[in-house]
Amino acid sequence: MARSPQPFQARKISEHVYWVGAVDWDLKEFHGYLTQRGTTYNAYLVLADKITLIDTVKKPYYDEMMARIASVIDPADIALIVSNHAEADHSGCLPETIAAVRPERVLASPKGVQTLQDLFGLGDRVEAVTPGGWLDVGGLPMQFVETRMVHWPDSMVSYLGGDGILFSQDAFGMHLAGSERFADDYDRATLLHEAEKYYANIVLPYSAQVGKVLDAVPTLGWDIRMIAPDHGPIFRTPADIGWILTQYRRFVEQTVTPRAVVVYDTMWHSTERMAKVVAEGLAAAGVGVRVFCLNGTHRSDIMTAVMNAGALVLGSPTLNGQPYPTLADFLTYAKGLKPRHKIGAVFGSYGWTPKCYDELAASLKAMEVELVSEPVLSRYSAKPEDLMACLNLGRTVGKALQQRCGREPAHGRDDRANQGKPQ
Ligand code: FEO
Repeated sequence: MARSPQPFQARKISEHVYWVGAVDWDLKEFHGYLTQRGTTYNAYLVLADKITLIDTVKKPYYDEMMARIASVIDPADIALIVSNHAEADHSGCLPETIAAVRPERVLASPKGVQTLQDLFGLGDRVEAVTPGGWLDVGGLPMQFVETRMVHWPDSMVSYLGGDGILFSQDAFGMHLAGSERFADDYDRATLLHEAEKYYANIVLPYSAQVGKVLDAVPTLGWDIRMIAPDHGPIFRTPADIGWILTQYRRFVEQTVTPRAVVVYDTMWHSTERMAKVVAEGLAAAGVGVRVFCLNGTHRSDIMTAVMNAGALVLGSPTLNGQPYPTLADFLTYAKGLKPRHKIGAVFGSYGWTPKCYDELAASLKAMEVELVSEPVLSRYSAKPEDLMACLNLGRTVGKALQQRCGREPAHGRDDRANQGKPQ
């Protein structure tokens, strides 16, 4: 029987597999993360003898996913649904999909069964796969490997033999909406920016687990010819697959780089002037610097820079004896993401009590940021001597960072700072 025309079409990505996900052009916020380019929720349909749906989409996109499925098959022909990750952007319409499709089996990791029970009461309907086990999905072998905490405890990946596809759920994903489905449709700068931002704001706290997964993959004997994540483009060329794996290894290791990030906010521009001079001192030591004012820069953009930096320097005015509220917001967010291998320092302007800088320093220490300079604090307004102290603070942090990178600090204009002459 001829299928009825559908407003959304599936996209064939390999001999047996179609992309049947949804494009969320308008998403601008995800877990406190600014997603300027929107995102995709990728679901995949495997046309094996037992037709298999890998993941679903966020609940409002159910109709779009079902239309794409219906553009190639009768959805009632789906025999298996595999839920690689129970978070609602991939399982939000799983209950409706199960009700509409009535598949023979719904599969998830053992923890996924529990999570889908907690979220939707689906526990009785979902079977646990055997971690590491293979399943014949009807002429094609599929293996399931748990990847706990990449991104949730329930997370697993599925490898489809034959077509050589790793369905990697959140891993290797990025928030990048587009009509193009493959990484080779995009320029590398865009991919790098979005992959870094996604990792820094979603995956970073779980880097140890990601490292274990990267170590394990070569031992599994998989012939990966495509990496199909649950967000953003699919990697299908050997160059792109090698590139994203190399980037992930770099993200996991967080190798110390000669780059510094100065994050500040300001009330009457005194801390702002100090921030700019701290940056001068860092640059004088040969360190690449990026300065971010929290009034106008989103915390998630700053975190991308922090992940790539070796130093984090914080500046805040004192407000009612506390750090400025935007600093508190940023630190709460950054602490949870657990960036590693950083050095840092604090500075700022206060009126009558400088105690908030102990709080800022304690927050950095709680993030295992090693403080390598005394704080520079100015009363009411930064005077010339305060600015010279800021220059020295930047130089001190920059020199320490250069040493950590095994490099000699730069010489030249920074030497003038030793003479105490304002520039
Ligand atoms: Fe894309 Fe952890 O959900």
